[in-house]
Amino acid sequence: MNMNPSKHFDDSAATWDSDPTKVTRALAVAEEIRRRVPLGAQMTGLEYGCGTGLLGFALQPYLGQITLADSSPGMLATLEAKIAASRANNLRSTKLDLVADPLPPERYDFICSLMTFHHIDDTSRLLRDLFTLMSASGYLCVADLDAEDGSFHGPGFTGHNGFDRRALERTAKDAGFRNIEFSTVFRIDKPESPGQTEFPVFLMVAEK
Ligand SMILES: C[S@@+](CC[C@H](N)C(=O)[O-])C[C@H]1O[C@@H](n2cnc3c(N)ncnc32)[C@H](O)[C@@H]1O
Repeated sequence: MNMNPSKHFDDSAATWDSDPTKVTRALAVAEEIRRRVPLGAQMTGLEYGCGTGLLGFALQPYLGQITLADSSPGMLATLEAKIAASRANNLRSTKLDLVADPLPPERYDFICSLMTFHHIDDTSRLLRDLFTLMSASGYLCVADLDAEDGSFHGPGFTGHNGFDRRALERTAKDAGFRNIEFSTVFRIDKPESPGQTEFPVFLMVAEK
């Protein structure tokens, strides 16, 4: 991965959705979320680190409003073109970087995030912020890589090499979440990798 993650995402945005693995991954995560979380038209949602909104678009029919948030201007530009071209009227985009920006005032009944946690150093603070952004009660769904040997991004990557499920569960509990459960929702194959070649993706569902 590029040493400048923001530029990497800006540059990849226009072709992001042409990678079938990314599309299939988001659909698999959406299906598992629908199986495990009682979504409904009365609920407001936030997807944090939405990229081009693959997950948010898949969940939009099952929620009231959903806000798709990302820090990358390139991703947001592609997302906004997709929203404008869609018939959905319950999607909105917003620029949000919880590492740098103040917490917005809105609160959500459902928050999801796919393959974004490993790019954010302070997972503990991120989970506390998402707890604050949640309504009095709600569901958090985080999908990301299980702990891996660093082959996923290769040399130079400074984020997390996936997550140990038990450690992430403890961090989520410390942030205030409860009823935390994990399942394996997808596997990414990288046959060209010099190390690990198969990367499981977990879905953590937690309640406030
Ligand atoms: C691997 S991509 C995943 C995108 C999308 N969730 C998907 O699965 O197709 C990670 C996304 O997280 C975003 N991101 C990275 N750091 C972020 C931050 N601090 N705040 C908000 N978004 C961030 C990137 O811009 C990028 O869109």
